[in-house]
Amino acid sequence: MGPVSCFVASTGLALLVGLEAAAAELHDAARQGDLVAVERLLAGGAQVEATDSGGATPLYVAASEGHAAVVARLLAAGGNTRHQVFGFVGSIGTPIHAAIRHGHLGVVRGLLEAGVDPNLPDDGVGPPLHTALRNGQTAAAELLRSFGARSIQAEPVDALIASVDPAAGEETASACAVCHELARHPEQPRAGPPLWDIVGRSKAGIPGFEYSEPLRKLGGRWTYEDLSSYIANPRSFAPGTKMEFRGIAEPRRRAALIAYLRSLSDEPKPLP
Ligand code: HEC
Repeated sequence: MGPVSCFVASTGLALLVGLEAAAAELHDAARQGDLVAVERLLAGGAQVEATDSGGATPLYVAASEGHAAVVARLLAAGGNTRHQVFGFVGSIGTPIHAAIRHGHLGVVRGLLEAGVDPNLPDDGVGPPLHTALRNGQTAAAELLRSFGARSIQAEPVDALIASVDPAAGEETASACAVCHELARHPEQPRAGPPLWDIVGRSKAGIPGFEYSEPLRKLGGRWTYEDLSSYIANPRSFAPGTKMEFRGIAEPRRRAALIAYLRSLSDEPKPLP
């Protein structure tokens, strides 16, 4: 290597090392809530989207620690509010989920005011309201509701339910059977309530089963439409539910499953 290319290579390396160090410093400053240091590092070109060894951005770190002013500064610098951090089994959420989990209301408010969708579905942990209710963060839940967080209905599959072969839903139902008894006379208590005769049954209606508060509050009966929405995305339809299941987004699979569930009855309800 000649002196010139050697110089170029080493400057490149120094620049890289310098940038990496700046990124690590930005994470540290975000963690500590050191706004002055955050300003200085951003001015020096530190990358706002650089992730640490755990996959977290400075925005995620500041949100977890509850540093509202730093969060605001990182948002102004273009920090991505949709960046997901991943744990062993999938996403553990975005900055707003982290702020909710740790009860940092000021940060939650700041993120909502910056335009974060209060109904943003996260494939790993569900929408923000689900995180709030599962973690007992009632003030955060109220705040989210005031920004529009609510129960989300899925696209109805009524027309499909009437046209699919119920037998096609049996295999899908095996995923439910992990937690639910499907038989007429359930024998063993399971994690979830028995599903025999579920179509048209009162919501949260099995005596003695300890339903979550959000499920008890739904009220009414399991219509085809509500069943479809709950199965499509339990945590978006009933935020705070204790059913740990991501849902079945695909309409045809969902319709076949509902047609099969309908058949689990001595007197199946009329088709939709
Ligand atoms: C990991 C366990 C688990 C799996 C898998 C699961 N569920 Fe559930 N399910 C639950 C629990 C727990 C509840 C009670 C929810 C609550 O109280 O918030 C529940 C509640 C329900 C309810 C409400 C029943 C009632 O009495 O109001 C329906 C309907 C339901 N599940 C359908 C399904 C279907 C269909 C599947 C498969 C696609 C499924 N579940 C998969 C655990 C599970």
